[in-house]
Amino acid sequence: MKDLSLNGPSGLGYLPGYFDRDAQEALLAEIRAVVARAPFYRPVMPRTGKPFTVRMSNCGPLGWVSDINGYRYQPLHPDTGLPWPALPARLTALWRDIAPQAPDPEACLINYYEESARMGLHQDRDEETFEAPVISVSLGDTATFRVGGLTRKDPTKSFRLQSGDVVVLAGEARLAFHGIDRVLTGTSTLLKNGGRINLTLRRVTHPA
Ligand code: SIN
Ligand code: FE2
Repeated sequence: MKDLSLNGPSGLGYLPGYFDRDAQEALLAEIRAVVARAPFYRPVMPRTGKPFTVRMSNCGPLGWVSDINGYRYQPLHPDTGLPWPALPARLTALWRDIAPQAPDPEACLINYYEESARMGLHQDRDEETFEAPVISVSLGDTATFRVGGLTRKDPTKSFRLQSGDVVVLAGEARLAFHGIDRVLTGTSTLLKNGGRINLTLRRVTHPA
């Protein structure tokens, strides 16, 4: 794992090409099966109700959702009312490979970025515990990932994430501000209709 922490918070890890093309295709097929049962929906921002530019779904026992009332984890899809599909074994295996000491992940947020979608700078802090890392997988078009420090004002740097790359926010960097500036259209052939999928694995609750 490469350490991208530089002058920022320590614990920012990068595993370029963790998934080769065959593994990306296998993972994508599993995600398509998830999304067939738990369709992408367009969340809105708390208070303002402004729609996100990314569409979202989840798998695992808990899913991250955002609506007019706030951000939270819940076991049911907000539109279908059905439980989120199970986490594909390949993702649990990734987690155990990178964070063997951490309790298993409970949530996998699936973000789908079409051409002009982006994700503003934010911290992942809706979990009960920040002990486990956040592990994220990129599939499809390359994106510009921006990461900063522990406050919104800290300096940021940006990296290109390609299909198959894995990013790990651990240690101090677990609460680093991060976001996606843009997706570089046409940079990957993995998704038939282009765009980018990001999978974010998280532990939400304290282990029993
Ligand atoms: C996120 O932080 O929710 C998404 C990050 C990414 O798309 O790589
Ligand atoms: Fe995030």
